[in-house]
Order: sequence, then structure tokens, then C-alpha cells
Amino acid sequence: MKLSIIGAGAVGTSCAHWALVKRVAQEIALFDIVPGLAKGKALDVAQSAPLFNFSGKIYGTEDFSLLEGSDVVIITAGKPRTPGMSREDLLKINAEIVKSCAEKIRLYAPNSIVIVVSNPLDAMVYVAYKVTGFPKEQIMGMAGVLDSARYRYFIAETLGVSPRDVQALVMGVHGDLMLPLIRLANVAGIPITELLSRDKIEEIVIKTKYGGGEIVNLLKTGSAFTTPGLATIEMAESILKDEKRVLTCSVLLEGEYGINGVFLGVPVIVGRRGVERILEIHLEPEELSALHQSAKACQELINALPEL
Ligand code: NAI
Ligand code: 2OP
Repeated sequence: MKLSIIGAGAVGTSCAHWALVKRVAQEIALFDIVPGLAKGKALDVAQSAPLFNFSGKIYGTEDFSLLEGSDVVIITAGKPRTPGMSREDLLKINAEIVKSCAEKIRLYAPNSIVIVVSNPLDAMVYVAYKVTGFPKEQIMGMAGVLDSARYRYFIAETLGVSPRDVQALVMGVHGDLMLPLIRLANVAGIPITELLSRDKIEEIVIKTKYGGGEIVNLLKTGSAFTTPGLATIEMAESILKDEKRVLTCSVLLEGEYGINGVFLGVPVIVGRRGVERILEIHLEPEELSALHQSAKACQELINALPEL
């Protein structure tokens, strides 16, 4: 199995690191346009191979023809946010970058499954879908796994319980209108509404929505990368090992949840064929209406995209 990662910045390098630790592929290729960057980052990650007992190949390059033979390609190329910026401020510049990556994937790895990470996420997955021309099952975006991990972490932290026992999901757009579902969040099967006051839950929901922004404000020069890298590799692993995990991914909706033509985070079965099935769960009217707000936000971003 071959995993390729485009963009050898903070998130791309984190992906390479976790891919090696979790042994998700025998060949891991890291790409960047900056001369030497991907090679240097890959060498650093590769030198941990003896410590993790990893016997596969890991290398960095600026030669995109080496995308050939990739089973999964992750796109992390693009500018991150800095304080005062929203993810949406990155739209035009990152659309050009993601477009150029998608053109190379179309040329060299037409059978690969593509995971987009670059922001604003749901619009960038749309760019990759349009430019590659791949079937919708081959294209997905990473955000829901990260946002849900943040949600689960904040619930566990507030309750003082193991994060392992917290299950919860965040649907919708990767932005301020994301939808951390309260009704379905639970600790070892116990609804959080039994364990936490309404105010505490509201606080957690807000912390989750602004979890990425909080880190941007603290870092000042970029955004989160450790958990984003691991969240992306969870998705790649489910594809490469055909695990059929149920993960919240940004996928093309064509009628599901009454939404058409936009990419949004919804629960999906992820396997060797990529998006194997979209799970269309029952939502209460106010939840559905929040999801439709997300769809509207994503449509507005798509409308503001430059010509692809
Ligand atoms: P970074 O600045 O550390 O790395 C980006 C890399 O992309 C740089 O090394 C740059 O040289 C490279 N690059 C630029 N144009 C390229 C091209 N045409 N081809 C190949 N490589 C190219 O940024 P970082 O922190 O790694 O973030 C990357 C992107 O991921 C940002 O857009 C960020 O907002 C997004 N992100 C999304 C998350 C999500 O949940 N979806 C979570 C975290 C970050
Ligand atoms: C995050 O949520 C920056 O979108 C990125 O951390």
C-alpha cells in the first residue's frame, strides 16, 4: 500500500509521523514545492523507523510523478490561518493551491482515494472533486474526526473521565456553524444530558466550535497540526486496511439530509472503496435546520471560488 501526502508543512509532517507510527502503509511519500523541504522532513520522520520498528519506505520529493501508484493521497498544501483570520479568508489562495495538487493527482494517481485537509475545508474538497473529476466516492475531507475528537476531549475533561469512554460527533461545515450533536453524545452509553447541566454542555459546545481558533490565537504563526495529522491518518488507515470505520467526513451530499451539491461533514463508512456509505441518521428539526445553515455557508463559499 502506498500513501502520498502533498504539503510537507506542519500537518503534512504530522500525517507522515502518525502514518509511520501506525504502520498504515509500506510506502509513504511526502511532496512539497519548496526545494528540499519534503526531503528534509521525510528524513527526520524516517530516522524514527528503527525506534518504531518500521521497515517500510519513507521519502520526500518535489517530483510529483512519484504520486504514481498511490492508494491514498492526502492534500495538506495551503496556507494556515493566523490570528484574526477565519478559515474562509484562505479561500482564494488555497483554491489555487488545491487545484494544482488535484491536477497532479488526476494525472499521476487517477485511481487513488483523496483526503483533503486544506482550509476552508468543505470548499477545498469541492475544488478537488471538480478538478480531479473523480467519482464522489473517491473524494473526502477531514474535519469531522478532528472536531469530534475536540468535542469528546472537552466532555471528558469537564467530567474528569477517560476520553476513551466518550462518544460524540460533530456534523456540518468545518467552521463556526459546525454542529456538535448534544442528543447523541454519551459517556459509556449514558447521555451527557444525564451527567452535565445545560450551561456546562453549552460551554463545551462553544469551546468545540472555537477549538481551532483558540489554538491559532496561542500559536500566532499557524494552526493546530498534531491532532489534525492523527485524525487524517485515522481516515487513511480505514481506507488502506479496509476497516469500515464510521467516521465523520466531508462528502458530497446528493439529496441526503435534503441537501444537494455541497460537501459537508456527515457520518460515513470508510473503506477500501473510499466513501462506502453515507449514514443518513434521524435529526430533530432544530438539528436539521442547523445542518442546512452549514450547507448554506458552504454553498456561499463555493459561489465565491475563482474559476476552476
Ligand atoms: P504549513 O504552512 O505548515 O504547510 C503548508 C505546506 O504546503 C507548505 O510547506 C507549503 O510549501 C506547501 N505548499 C504550498 N503550495 C503547494 C503546492 N502547490 N504543492 C505542494 N505543496 C504546497 O500549513 P499547515 O499548518 O500544514 O496547514 C495546511 C493546511 O491545512 C492549511 O490550509 C490549514 O488551514 C489546514 N488545516 C485544516 C485542518 C482541518 O481540520 N481540515 C486542520 C489543520 C490545518
Ligand atoms: C483547525 O480546526 C485550523 O481548521 C484547523 O484546527
